[in-house]
Formats: sequence, C-alpha cells, structure tokens
Amino acid sequence: MTKVLVLNGSPRGLKSNTQAILTPFLEGVREAGAETDVLVVRDLDIKFCLGCFACWSSTPGRCCQEDDMTRVLELWRQADYVVYATPLYHFGMTALLKRLVERTLPLLEPRMEQYGDRTGHPLRQGTRRARTVLIANCGFPERLHFGALLEHMRYLTGGGKGLAATILVGGGEAFGRAYRPNGPFAWFFAAVRQAGLEIVTQGRLSPATQETLDRPLAPDETYRQAANASWDADGDGEPPGRGQ
Ligand SMILES: Cc1cc2nc3c(=O)[nH]c(=O)nc-3n(C[C@H](O)[C@H](O)[C@H](O)COP(=O)(O)O)c2cc1C
Repeated sequence: MTKVLVLNGSPRGLKSNTQAILTPFLEGVREAGAETDVLVVRDLDIKFCLGCFACWSSTPGRCCQEDDMTRVLELWRQADYVVYATPLYHFGMTALLKRLVERTLPLLEPRMEQYGDRTGHPLRQGTRRARTVLIANCGFPERLHFGALLEHMRYLTGGGKGLAATILVGGGEAFGRAYRPNGPFAWFFAAVRQAGLEIVTQGRLSPATQETLDRPLAPDETYRQAANASWDADGDGEPPGRGQ
C-alpha cells in the first residue's frame, strides 16, 4: 500500500490555510487507498540539528538527541511520498519545517557520490526513496513569490527528479484558515482533492488538474483591497467575506 507522510509546517497548526488545503488533499489520497500519517510539526518536540555528525559516525543512522524526530524518521524511511505543507515565510518554508528537514541527515550516508553534474550523499540502506509533494500558500496574491522555495525544493529532490507535484496558492488568506467545501473556493478544493487522488493513482497531476490549481483565487487588486480593508477594520489580516 502507498504510504504518504504529511508534514504540516504552519505555526497555526490545524487552524491554518495550510490545513485548509491539506484536508481535501488527504481526502483524495485516502480515497485512492493510500495510508497517511499526518504530523503537525508545531506540536512535535523537535530540537535543532547540533551538527555533530554522530548520525554519520558513532551511531550511524541514529541521531544522538532523543525527541519526536525518532518517530518522524521511522515514518520517513517507510514513506512513498512526503508532503511538505507550509505557508511561505520570508520567501521560504517555515523555520519549523526547515528545522525538521535538517534533522533528516541520519537518512543519508556520509559518502559522497557523483549524480550527473553534482555531488551528493546516497540514501542509507532501508530508506525508501520517497517522492515529494510541495503544498504552499502565501499572503501575497501572485504565485511568483514561490520562486525561491521552488528552487530550494528542486535542490532537495535531486534537481527536481523527486518532486512529484506542487500546489502553490497565492492569496491563501482568502480561505480564512478553514476548509469550506461548499464556499466560494469549492472549485479549488475539488481540484485539490482530485490532486490527492491522482498523486496516488498516477504518481503525478493531470494537466487539467494542474491548470485549475494554478488559477488565481481572486483578481490581485480585489484581494489587495480586501486584505487592506481587513487590516484597517479589525487587524486580523483576513480578507472579509472571503471563504465564507
Ligand atoms: C513571519 C511571516 C512571514 C511571511 N512571509 C511571507 C512572504 O514572504 N510572502 C508572502 O506572500 N506571505 C508571507 N507571509 C504570509 C503567510 O504566508 C500567509 O499568512 C499564509 O496564508 C499563512 O498560512 P497558514 O495559515 O497556513 O499559516 C508571512 C507571514 C508571516 C507570519
């Protein structure tokens, strides 16, 4: 059975725009028969990597720190897909998620090998080569803000070879931090659900699904005005009347 490990990297946890996208995605993944493990990173005890390389020397494949990362690594070793789900923070993934990613060093071997035009580390024996899905949303309406994150993800996935799909959502605050399957973004959430299904059944997104996911949620100027009005009104930054 296909195993999907999902990492929700939003500091808002389950009440986030990230989770609003993840919920229908997971519905599709489960409908396709995959097994899922969903981790809300902010609720885990994950310390920073110490850079000691113990996982490459004295205790190969095992970190010297005892925390929830032990369980995350067990799940990662078994996973066919790892879903990085994050809001855009300063043009990248959140520090919460990055801290977790840095702790995956035990999955690699210290040996250096040549892969095409570059040097890398091979996966340690017993670790499946998981493919990656990136689900990201951001506060600005345009999708061009994801450029640096996308490039980062390409580096993390062997020049993009392991990047199975990306769902990049500009103006994500329009969701109001909730999945409303019958609200104004029903068309988007239905496409996200379809994306979850397609990833498991086909290993990629169909062009039709990708095209729908890439559509703007609202005209840029409409979104800007709604966001500004919201800050002026109650200071919570959620565009009023959106995602109801
Ligand atoms: C510290 C911080 C940094 C942010 N950086 C960006 C950014 O670089 N670009 C952007 O468009 N939005 C940025 N945002 C806005 C978030 O991406 C946006 O609010 C998103 O919808 C939050 O998603 P979540 O509810 O899943 O956490 C930032 C928000 C915070 C709190």
